[in-house]
Amino acid sequence: MKRLNWGMIGGGKGSQIGPAHRIAAGLDGHFAFVAGALDADAAAGRAFAQELGVAADRAYGDWREMLEGERGRADKIDLVTVATPNATHYEISKAFLEAGINVLCEKPMTVTEAEAEDLVLTARKAGRICAVNYGYTGYALVRHMRAMVARGDIGKVRLVVAEFAHGHHANAADADNPRVRWRYDPAQAGVSAQFADCGIHALHMASFVTGQEVARLSSDFASCLPSRVLEDDAMVNFRMDGGAVGRLWTSSVAIGRQHGLTIQVFGETGGLRWAQEQPNQLYYMPLGQRLQVIERGEGNLSPEADRASRVTVGHAEGMPLAFGNIYRDLAESLLAAAEGRKPDPAVTLFPTAEDGLRSISAIHAAVASAKSEGAWVDARPALFR
Ligand code: NAI
Repeated sequence: MKRLNWGMIGGGKGSQIGPAHRIAAGLDGHFAFVAGALDADAAAGRAFAQELGVAADRAYGDWREMLEGERGRADKIDLVTVATPNATHYEISKAFLEAGINVLCEKPMTVTEAEAEDLVLTARKAGRICAVNYGYTGYALVRHMRAMVARGDIGKVRLVVAEFAHGHHANAADADNPRVRWRYDPAQAGVSAQFADCGIHALHMASFVTGQEVARLSSDFASCLPSRVLEDDAMVNFRMDGGAVGRLWTSSVAIGRQHGLTIQVFGETGGLRWAQEQPNQLYYMPLGQRLQVIERGEGNLSPEADRASRVTVGHAEGMPLAFGNIYRDLAESLLAAAEGRKPDPAVTLFPTAEDGLRSISAIHAAVASAKSEGAWVDARPALFR
């Protein structure tokens, strides 16, 4: 199989998410890591890229230099991952899309709705993929959950309950630590902190597994540490376009919670529950029967789950492998496009700029609702109304 060339912006030494991307992109051998502008500090970025095996002439000091260096090459990168802080995503992603390079952008895709809408339109105009890294949708059992809902195993969906609540910013004595403080500073984080950082993963997951989009919402934001301008806890009620009722809780002050992403879907004939910290089990409760624990890798799962599963049943698969499924889907889609084929629908499950835009609109809707005592507001992007 042809190898694709891959580059990365951000994800420098010591970054949180950089290593997961590098493991994931390298997992199946589809992508060769050939270019990078990895750090806000040019010299550190160049040095780290070379440490990781990138050739000196493609270990760039910043993303503009990388764009100039790559766009003229016959072997230019096929895909760039943007894993920098949020406020830079738009400018970088737009520039690479316009240069004909496919993008996998970290979430939240942009800060404003206008930027998000523009990225959707830019990707369409360029005829390139702009994917967004809601990487937890790459888990085999999340895909199985989606397949079970779609094939009617729990009947019509009545209720979705999504959570992303951790306790890592609960320590008041640590609130002034610069690595924590910027997240609650509107000048650096934008209009929302915890909901934009974690809540949107849960909200996107609710759409992914139900196949329904969020139509309107009502929210209550709280700063449990009074020194914080932006929220560290939020409760969001929502309604989906297929009629499902949604509940979402996100928090960064839930002491004792580690990662905290869970999703539960309740239909007319059954319920499903999955948690990111135990990703190899999916709990299925058919109405009036016994609780069943579905194991990743067991026989007779959906084709979507089989495809996303790599090792045999009983061996744990974790987050970098879920991200790896996003990369594999992207690789197979890019290879299909290069060969003039339509990609198999099974490989187009990765979240796109359209999903990124929906999230940004939901963030702004949730902020507006919280400011008006929880008034119900339209959460749909203007582009899709
Ligand atoms: P971080 O602060 O740990 O690392 C950011 C890296 O980007 C650093 O190496 C920094 O030097 C580099 N950087 C900053 N500005 C740059 C620029 N202009 N050019 C090149 N490099 C630059 O941040 P973290 O936690 O890794 O987050 C990065 C992004 O990933 C954020 O958008 C965040 O929301 C997202 N993220 C997504 C997760 C997911 O599950 N999908 C999980 C964690 C973070």
